[in-house]
Amino acid sequence: MKIKRVEFAGAMGRPDQLPPGTLPQVAFSGRSNVGKSSLINRIIGRTRTQLARVSATPGKTQEINFYRIVSEAASVQGGGIPEELEFFLVDLPGYGFAKAPVEQRMKWRPLIEGYLGGPHDLRGVVQLIDVRQGPTPDDHRMIQYLSATGLPALFALTKVDKLKSNERERQLPKVAASLGVEIDQVVPFSSLNGEGTEDLLDSIAALLREEDDE
Ligand code: GTP
Ligand code: MG
Repeated sequence: MKIKRVEFAGAMGRPDQLPPGTLPQVAFSGRSNVGKSSLINRIIGRTRTQLARVSATPGKTQEINFYRIVSEAASVQGGGIPEELEFFLVDLPGYGFAKAPVEQRMKWRPLIEGYLGGPHDLRGVVQLIDVRQGPTPDDHRMIQYLSATGLPALFALTKVDKLKSNERERQLPKVAASLGVEIDQVVPFSSLNGEGTEDLLDSIAALLREEDDE
């Protein structure tokens, strides 16, 4: 899938707000500081002039941010004429940041549950896990919640550039096992060097197409 155009489309700060349109959506979920905003910038090709705000201070993204993407992908029929896909990538606020002010932590749950349980055309969720730590108790709670919603989920293991190759060989199967999935169901990802970008874009394209084919 090739990205053609991207723009910030709007934000949702309260559960009673609506997304800035009715396009199909894929959301990114994960602990604060796991690399959600960095991953979005990388896969939409905005590493120099970032669209999603990235910060070394956890808890930067406190609203749900919507990015409108127009992409081109090979047509399902394989007729050679590329098909245009238009959708939102959705940056969810991170969880598990112990130092977050109480009011902020109180707002997170209704906002996230309101959005994930809402009547929007949400096709799936990419759950990010820090490859060095593996899933935390908060991650397990989130994964359980996601599986109860019945939404398709993908796993991206972030910051894989921080592992040496022998650590990587040990860590990838370990993290997959603690997530309860096969090794080929996780995407090792680095927003620093772009590893995993193609894989993730292909998986996102598949999520976006699944319902169109029905
Ligand atoms: P919140 O908005 O607080 O929920 O955080 P986030 O998940 O959006 O994380 P963000 O993308 O802001 O990244 C947090 C920090 O991790 C920043 O300092 C990034 O530069 C760094 N970071 C993110 N992804 C990677 C990666 O793949 N490799 C390395 N080395 N650093 C990364
Ligand atoms: Mg962020």
